[in-house]
Amino acid sequence: MENQSQNLPTQSQQKESQQKSWEYAWDLWCTLSIIGIWPRYIEPNLIFTRKIALPIQNLPKRMSGFSLLHISDLHFSASTSKNFLQKISRKIEQLAPDAIVFTGDLICYGTLENREVLEEWLKTIQAPFGVFATLGNHDYEKYLSLDDDEQFVIEHDKIPPLFRGFSRLLGTKVERHTEPVKGPIQPLQELLDMYKNAGIRVLHNNNALIGFGMNRINIVGLGDIMANQCIPEEAFKGLSPQLPTIVLSHNPDSFPLLKLYPGDLYLFGHTHGGQVNLPLFWKKITPIRDKSLKSGLHQRGDKTLFISRGLGTTFPFRWFAPPQMTLFQFVPKPTVTERAWKPIPEISKIVSDRAQCPTRTSSASKHIE
Ligand SMILES: [Fe+2]
Repeated sequence: MENQSQNLPTQSQQKESQQKSWEYAWDLWCTLSIIGIWPRYIEPNLIFTRKIALPIQNLPKRMSGFSLLHISDLHFSASTSKNFLQKISRKIEQLAPDAIVFTGDLICYGTLENREVLEEWLKTIQAPFGVFATLGNHDYEKYLSLDDDEQFVIEHDKIPPLFRGFSRLLGTKVERHTEPVKGPIQPLQELLDMYKNAGIRVLHNNNALIGFGMNRINIVGLGDIMANQCIPEEAFKGLSPQLPTIVLSHNPDSFPLLKLYPGDLYLFGHTHGGQVNLPLFWKKITPIRDKSLKSGLHQRGDKTLFISRGLGTTFPFRWFAPPQMTLFQFVPKPTVTERAWKPIPEISKIVSDRAQCPTRTSSASKHIE
């Protein structure tokens, strides 16, 4: 027994070996990154899952614990592998969400390639309370982007923003054939038909209720802002304002148009989390005006925003921005009265300090009761 315990690694030895493993992993990452293998072949195929318990005001009782999976930006094309699609399906199956939402850019450049493969895969995406989708700037009849003056334009070339970023970094300018967006661009009809055949409901400036009986929440979907199709006055029409509201929109730049409407959680995609998420460089390749909304959770007053890094890219190359899906689990938000009476540590400490003071004991007890 004595010999055995002598052979066991001590806590500091364990820590040291853990530290060494991290160092080896870091060296490996650096080596693979330098020769381009990591960002080109490894990171774009990793899918990270984030789980967020989100307090929601006025959440109907029986909707407590309801899970909503947010996915975005698949950018399906002929080069999307079946393995990657299966990986997404497996993850969704493991998470078993109550409902699924997709925030746009299902395809690339308004072009539907390998239609059968995409259609088959879409049919596997199911959830008991439904699957809902909005459209992104790649899902319309024309491909929309942001020009160098931050104006929305129809882009006639299919050049990934990543290449334009690299060329700008190298001091060479890629000529762009664009025209300004003058009126609403229409959604790609083939894509809408495909969604319909797969049983996925597209919310393009309209809303729906999810849940059952009296226990429901609103879900609102906007058209894309670059396509001149983000029309909140239509999207929020007929909404039940007493119910919690989840807002789906592809581009986080649409938030200023939406913030005056009811909304508890705003879900966006579009940014790919910077995609090549290196200081300064990501800003050159990410077509958004508000660079503060690159990815993750943000709070704007009482509104929660989440920007997904998405699943795919127009060109598979990612650094420090791996693909992502996010599972939200709704929990009731304590009301103001409940929050006031919650024995937070600071108050407990004040009360116990006061309790030790004989002259103030009675008043302190009364206050807390
Ligand atoms: Fe995208």
